[in-house]
Amino acid sequence: MEKITFEDLTDQEKELYAQAKAVRVNAYAPYSDFKVGASLLSSNENIFSGCNVESVDFTLTTHAEMNAIDTMVASGEQKIKTIVIVMEAESGYGMPCGLCRQKILEFALDNTAIFGINLDGKGEIRDIYKTSIKEVMPYSFGPEYLK
Ligand code: THU
Ligand code: ZN
Repeated sequence: MEKITFEDLTDQEKELYAQAKAVRVNAYAPYSDFKVGASLLSSNENIFSGCNVESVDFTLTTHAEMNAIDTMVASGEQKIKTIVIVMEAESGYGMPCGLCRQKILEFALDNTAIFGINLDGKGEIRDIYKTSIKEVMPYSFGPEYLK
């Protein structure tokens, strides 16, 4: 995991950030009031995005990363090059939860990159962390087990 700055991002990563930030606005989070946006770059270099969608039955809640991935799969693609997650939190790394890490792993490449971008209360970037699926899911249970 490394802490980086906005200037360190490539133009493509900046575009993923812009789209994740934009889709986050549409998050349906009346119960937690915690909005999350995620945008991913597929192996064909298309961008797919999602936001969290909560439910009065909390167990039905879907996460931003999950919705971005499901949209990618519905569009006929199955590999994630890069995924950018945007949230607003006072601490932490802006990283996907354990469930989402497992779901990213399902469609990951060897070197899938993960960016966690934390906003401050004004919508400005507080910090950016860069890591990889390998780093956040060591000793994982992946698709290779069932081959
Ligand atoms: N959430 C996500 O969308 N992605 C994550 O990986 C972490 C959690 C959402 C779920 C819920 O709507 C809210 O954040 C608070 O947990
Ligand atoms: Zn999650």
